[in-house]
Amino acid sequence: MGTLDNISTIQQLELGPLEEGGWLQSKRVFIRVDFNVPLDKKTGEITDDSRIRAALPTIQFAVEAGAKVILASHLGRPKGKPDDKYSLEPVGGRLAELTGYDIHFPEDCIGDAPKKVIHDLRIAASGSHGAPQVVLLENLRFHEGEEKNDEAFVKALGDLCDVYVDDAFGAMHRAHASVDGLPRSKKDRGAGMLVEKELAALGRLVDAPEKPFVAVLGGAKVSDKIAVIEALLGRCSAICIGGAMANTFLAAQGRNMQKSLVEDDKLALARTLLNKADDAGVDLLLPSDVVVGDSLSATSGKTVHVSAVPEGHMALDIGPDSVATFTRALQSAKTIFWNGPMGLFESKAFAAGTMSLAEAMSGVDGFTVVGGGDSAAAVHRAGEAIANAFDHISTGGGASLELVEGKKLPGIEALRHKTLSAER
Ligand code: 3PG
Repeated sequence: MGTLDNISTIQQLELGPLEEGGWLQSKRVFIRVDFNVPLDKKTGEITDDSRIRAALPTIQFAVEAGAKVILASHLGRPKGKPDDKYSLEPVGGRLAELTGYDIHFPEDCIGDAPKKVIHDLRIAASGSHGAPQVVLLENLRFHEGEEKNDEAFVKALGDLCDVYVDDAFGAMHRAHASVDGLPRSKKDRGAGMLVEKELAALGRLVDAPEKPFVAVLGGAKVSDKIAVIEALLGRCSAICIGGAMANTFLAAQGRNMQKSLVEDDKLALARTLLNKADDAGVDLLLPSDVVVGDSLSATSGKTVHVSAVPEGHMALDIGPDSVATFTRALQSAKTIFWNGPMGLFESKAFAAGTMSLAEAMSGVDGFTVVGGGDSAAAVHRAGEAIANAFDHISTGGGASLELVEGKKLPGIEALRHKTLSAER
C-alpha cells in the first residue's frame, strides 16, 4: 500500500547518515514535481496553480538547506517530442511570482544545456546575496524516453543530480522514467512533503477508516470507477452515485434516460455492482431526480423525476431531492471520500447539485477528503471557505483513485529501500 515504510523523507535526507544535518548542502537535488496545471486554451495562462503551490514547502526546504534544486515535471501529453503549447515556461513565471526565486529554464531537460545551468547555479547560503536560484527543466515528456521508462533517458536525467526527491503525487501512478527508473537508480532518494501529506490523508481511507464511511462518486464513466467502487464496497456503509455515471446505473434499473450519456456496454456490470452492494449491506444511493437539458450546451435546465426524463433531453445534474438524500447519508459520516462531480458543474444551470454537496460535506464533522481533478476544481469553485473546511484536497486525480483502490503506485514503490539504515 501507500505507506512511507522504508522511505526516507526529505527531512531525513537532510539529516544525513550521521544525523548531523546539513547533508543536502551543495548537493544537486532533483525534485520531481507535478506541474501538470490546467492552461487556458486561448491565452495559454495557468487557470489553477494549486499544484505549484502544493509543491512549495518541499522546494523551499531544499533551497533553505543549501541544495542545488532541479525541478522536473511533465505538462500535458505532448507525444514524446517538443511542442510549444506544452512548454513549462509559464509555470516558471508563476513559480517566480510565488517564491521570488530566480528561475533558470534551460531549453531541454537533458544534456549540456541543463548541466551547465546546474553547474553555475548559486546556492542559498548564509550571507549570500540576491534571490535564491533554482532550475526548472523543460517538459520531461518532450522525450519519448520519459513515458517508455527508457534506460538511456534515466541515465541522462541521473547525470544531472546526486539526490532524488519525489513530490509529484499526481504522477505517482505512472511507471515513467522520472517516477520509476530514475529513483531506482539513485541510492539517495526520498519523498517530499506533499507526497507525505497525501499518503497520510489517503491512507486513512484505506487502513481502518473511521465508520460510518460514506463515498460520493461522480464523473462521466462507470468504467473509470469500477475498481474503486469494488474496493469501497468492503469499507463503506453508503456510496452515493451522481454525475453521468449514475445514468448507467439508472438505465440498468430499467429507467429510460433518453438522450443522457449511458454506457450501454456497462449495463450488466452496473447490475452486478448493485447486487454486490446489496450482498455487502452497503447503501448504493442513486439520484431520484435529475436536472435535464436538451444538449450539453443547454443554458437552462428543468428538474424531473428519474422516471420522467422527457424525450430529447439528457440528465446534466442531480436534483434537489437527490441532494437531500445524499446529504442525509453524509451527515453522520465519520469519514467521507468524494471523487467526481455530480453534473456539468462548469455550467451555471447544472452546477447546483455539485455545489450543494460540496457545502454539505464541508459542514460534516468527520474526516473529509476530496480526490483530485474535477472534484478538487469543483470544491474551489464552491468558494475558499468551503474548500478550507475539507481536511484534504488531493492534488492527484488518477493517483488518488488508485491509492484508495488499494493499489501499489510505481512512484512510491520506487522510493522504498529494503531497509532504511542498510541502504543509506
Ligand atoms: C494528472 O494530471 O493526473 C497527472 O499529472 C498525470 O498526468 P497524465 O494522466 O497525463 O499521466
